[in-house]
Amino acid sequence: MKPTRITTLFGIKYPIIAGGMVWCSSWRLASAVTNAGGLGLLGSGSMHPETLEQHIEKMQQATAGKPWGVNIPLMYPEIDKLIEIIISHKVPVVFTSAGSPKKYTATFHAAGIKVAHVVSSSKFARKCEEAGVDAVVAEGFEAGGHNGREETTTMTLIPQVRQATSLPLIAAGGIASGSAIAAAMALGAEGVQIGTLFALSQESSASEAFKQRCITLNEGDTMLALKKISPTRMIKNALYDKIHAAEDAGADADKLREILGAKAAKRGIFDGDLDSGELEIGQIASAIKEIKPVAQIMDELVADFDATVQKMAQL
Ligand SMILES: Cc1cc2nc3c(=O)[nH]c(=O)nc-3n(C[C@H](O)[C@H](O)[C@H](O)COP(=O)(O)O)c2cc1C
Repeated sequence: MKPTRITTLFGIKYPIIAGGMVWCSSWRLASAVTNAGGLGLLGSGSMHPETLEQHIEKMQQATAGKPWGVNIPLMYPEIDKLIEIIISHKVPVVFTSAGSPKKYTATFHAAGIKVAHVVSSSKFARKCEEAGVDAVVAEGFEAGGHNGREETTTMTLIPQVRQATSLPLIAAGGIASGSAIAAAMALGAEGVQIGTLFALSQESSASEAFKQRCITLNEGDTMLALKKISPTRMIKNALYDKIHAAEDAGADADKLREILGAKAAKRGIFDGDLDSGELEIGQIASAIKEIKPVAQIMDELVADFDATVQKMAQL
């Protein structure tokens, strides 16, 4: 894999980022990705501020000066506290999502922190450029977790975001092989953010029950739901059936929140409650059949990327 603006920006060997993921992206997963030459992100969305602080300290010990970052969903209730911790611990990189990058980018830059922001449309990619972020992540609706309302796929989104902005571009959504990385780059991306594949790695903090369920999935076993709250891709299970039935019957956001109950994603992903928990994972889970260590996943991604590029050169 050759250097791109993304490898140069973050000082990494491979243009591969492990997206921040609630209940999956602890220091173990993020440091394994960083130590294998990618950029590991801690997922602060499921951490109390003091938990984030502990993970940052573990991360610093485990990565010995190599680059890494923290993902912050901007709707996080104690966001100011998180930002204070990130700045005081000199975290080198922040990936923001689920909100506007306008408010916080200057604060991070003033502290010497590089900022990337996640979008699901060209319109929001242009807003990122106005906000002065260093890179944009364009995430298609195949992706696991919270998702774009308009259901734009990665294949459709990347070339249009490429046209819309001159920012270094990271593609996300449905990428779990070296050939998919090559495809994203053919469409104009300079790096990729991978979620599902790393959520199903040995180092992910998701429960074993969740991981095992995910590697049995077939195409069509995840769906986008909860558009009235925040569009979320999840596995069809008993909880999804209730949500789907309520949505069909016209349930409002309050009713849907009542059906979800407290800590639905924690119940599903971390505690492994496969029936009544919210099982967030991407469409590409149906292509993943084994739980592997991160180092092996990274080696396979790079080897498959190189083989794909060689094959393409012969077309
Ligand atoms: C279980 C899970 C939890 C996620 N949580 C977050 C999150 O807290 N913040 C965020 O910006 N993205 C989150 N994502 C999205 C990922 O960071 C990444 O962009 C996405 O998974 C890429 O698509 P893929 O799943 O097809 O690889 C999550 C994804 C998954 C699968």
